[in-house]
Amino acid sequence: MIFYYSGCGNSRHIARRLSEQLGERLAFIPDLLREEPQSFDCRLERSIGFVMPVYAWAAPSLVEDFVKLTEWQHSEGTYIWAAFTCGDDMGLADRRFRSLLEKCSLHLDAVFCFVMPETYLCFPGFKLDSPQGAAQKIRNAQNHLSTVGDAIMMRKTIEDTVRGSAPWLKTKIIRPLFYAIMTDKGFYTTPDCDHCGLCEKLCPLKNISLQDGKPEWHSHCTQCMSCYHHCPKNAIQFRKLTLGKGQYYFGKSLHEDKD
Ligand SMILES: Cc1cc2nc3c(=O)[nH]c(=O)nc-3n(C[C@H](O)[C@H](O)[C@H](O)COP(=O)(O)O)c2cc1C
Repeated sequence: MIFYYSGCGNSRHIARRLSEQLGERLAFIPDLLREEPQSFDCRLERSIGFVMPVYAWAAPSLVEDFVKLTEWQHSEGTYIWAAFTCGDDMGLADRRFRSLLEKCSLHLDAVFCFVMPETYLCFPGFKLDSPQGAAQKIRNAQNHLSTVGDAIMMRKTIEDTVRGSAPWLKTKIIRPLFYAIMTDKGFYTTPDCDHCGLCEKLCPLKNISLQDGKPEWHSHCTQCMSCYHHCPKNAIQFRKLTLGKGQYYFGKSLHEDKD
């Protein structure tokens, strides 16, 4: 079983390729979070994988919530792995995720990291990769996939991480600050909005609803940027910080391409 979350398609791509390679089923975490809290019997699985983007040098809070809210039974003997996708580096995301799993009596055997195109734009200085830079990252990730798939099949204990500089500072100090100041108050639509409602459909947290045809954000945003990047008119902006920065998502829109 592979549990995954993706805002802009990078992690969905990695999850799908690994699911094909390993013959494992996929489950989209936001869908599971909308159901009643679940109990999951690990004895029924050869392995359990988690695939997710790195948000502020940690797992997205909705993935952490999913792990906390699920009742995990009997994990001994089940191989557990996690694959992170990030734009640059993951800090201590894996260590934080490992401790969270330990609290649920799950032991993380292997961690993998794929550097993929950048998606976060809501801070000054943050921008998308150039098309060539993005294409190169995707090629590198494709090459990495078979090594990762083989390692999982061989149940290797492995720490394949891209920590970057000052990882402790980023995960322990900057991440909490990011989540403390992070808000969806800055999102708005320009007059180009044609009220198509795609943002409402795509929001993984169902944080957007249309009021008189215009999207409104309801304060439980994780800043995945799915609404911004998928808007067919590029009519969703965040303060002045996203203006002119362009859009990106991997492959087809998440709306056209559901599992
Ligand atoms: C809210 C947010 C925070 C992010 N934080 C980081 C980060 O700490 N380090 C990093 O290298 N990339 C960061 N990124 C970039 C994403 O991790 C990266 O683009 C990822 O592949 C996106 O996956 P997705 O397309 O499956 O959503 C962040 C992106 C978002 C939206």
